[in-house]
Amino acid sequence: MPEALKHADRMLAERAYRPPAPKPQPRPLKPIALIRTLKRNPLECWAAQHFEQPIVAGGLPVGHALLVHEPSAIRRVLLDNAANYRKDRLQRRVLSAGLSEGLLSAEGEQWHLQRRVIAPIFARRTVMDFTPAMMGAADVLIKRWSGLGDHATIDVAAEMARVTLDVVERTIFSDGFGSDAEDIRTAMVTYFNTIGKISPLDLLGVPDFVPRLGRLRVRSTLKFFEAEVDRVISARRRILAEQPDRAPNDLLTHLLEALDRGSEDRMTESEVRSNILTFIAAGHETTANTLSWSMFLLSQSREWRERVQAEADRQLTGPIPGIADRLVETRAVIEEAIRLYPPIAAISRVALGDDNLNGERVRPGSLIVISPYVLHRHRLLWDSPDTFDPRRFLGSARAEIDRFAYLPFGAGPRKCIGSTFALQEATLVLATIVKHFSFQLKPGHAVWPILQVTLRPANGLPMIIKPRTSNDPRARASRRLLHS
Ligand code: HEM
Repeated sequence: MPEALKHADRMLAERAYRPPAPKPQPRPLKPIALIRTLKRNPLECWAAQHFEQPIVAGGLPVGHALLVHEPSAIRRVLLDNAANYRKDRLQRRVLSAGLSEGLLSAEGEQWHLQRRVIAPIFARRTVMDFTPAMMGAADVLIKRWSGLGDHATIDVAAEMARVTLDVVERTIFSDGFGSDAEDIRTAMVTYFNTIGKISPLDLLGVPDFVPRLGRLRVRSTLKFFEAEVDRVISARRRILAEQPDRAPNDLLTHLLEALDRGSEDRMTESEVRSNILTFIAAGHETTANTLSWSMFLLSQSREWRERVQAEADRQLTGPIPGIADRLVETRAVIEEAIRLYPPIAAISRVALGDDNLNGERVRPGSLIVISPYVLHRHRLLWDSPDTFDPRRFLGSARAEIDRFAYLPFGAGPRKCIGSTFALQEATLVLATIVKHFSFQLKPGHAVWPILQVTLRPANGLPMIIKPRTSNDPRARASRRLLHS
């Protein structure tokens, strides 16, 4: 077959590529099977009707539930009538175990006050100032991989957790965790591996005072974190009081300064601590998964690998300000990755009073579940919903996506405060990796998505990496710079 035809054939095959995902259940699961599957992998519970119908009532072992995947009804729950819905107990517990005073789980006046103080810290302008810190973390990763030689096998999932933790450290405490840094990293891994487990007691609504085995372990780790963060906060307060010009330009300084400015709007010391931990918890694992899925999807598509490589070679040697905004194709790959594999795969709320969602009655206490995973693959909302196609997020196609049909970061007053930060970080890190390395999935490894707090690849993501032998003089120049 002539080369041009082979190329066209390959492109067509790649454009029809459907990355791995559980096949929807033909019918909703019965209660016992549902509880078992929820415990194993909640992603495997969804039935065909959830991907085909706007709203499905019922289906959970307890109480009245509505599974809502229709943009105008979602808009009503998350934005227009948001005051009638509050975060439900299970979501708060799973997503923010132990961090009850942080922004992720606070409610009412406490949440309002915190959001007002914290929002400017995550505004676009402040986040752009973190570009060098994010690129610094990416460069450390590249240097480490360069030392592994050709054809090394790495676990991309673990590597991405490492680089995002490094970004968190550089942007929250840019002077580092200090001498206990390695202990803190180890405790962090234990913490995230343990809070990931949903206990069947949670699903059955057993009250909080009944102890859950895994959580006892979390509590001691949490105590250790709290003591460490207190130590870092006190040291920073001293610098701010004695030598303010020497204070690093990072999230901790911004947070403490914002506190000192507002005379009435003061968060307590323990709220500051909870929020620092919340930023670490909410920001590191989610972005790590975003990067892992993006790398996996790129490993399956030569077209997009080449496009992102060409863009990275072109843009990463240009001026630093605005660099993430110029990486448009890289960003489209990331947005498509979190459409197919949204790190936060379910958002839930409990109704406080009566309401009506597209003709479905909502009662006080009704549980509303909106799953970005189901929404992003809904048959009524997307063309070829299960195929990988970053073109959806380029140019005018992007503008056609309904704001309430694409919710990787939620929507309304409680939408993710760190979305600009996360997208910038993921774009810069992915482009840097692609510029310096080619990679392929380890032959024989079956990739499978699993939901454990966040949506991640089950059993890691082993890949074989190889430094790129690009002839582009700009790629060579930046490699020299990196090794100098
Ligand atoms: C790709 C990465 C991320 C994803 C997919 C993500 C997703 C989300 C989602 C879906 C929500 C809304 C939950 C709800 O409405 O119930 C949320 C809230 C939140 N996120 Fe993120 N997030 C990411 C990164 C980050 C980062 C980097 C930070 C901070 C450093 C962060 C901090 C928060 C906080 C504090 C909230 C609670 C906001 C509030 O309730 O006012 N997230 N995130």
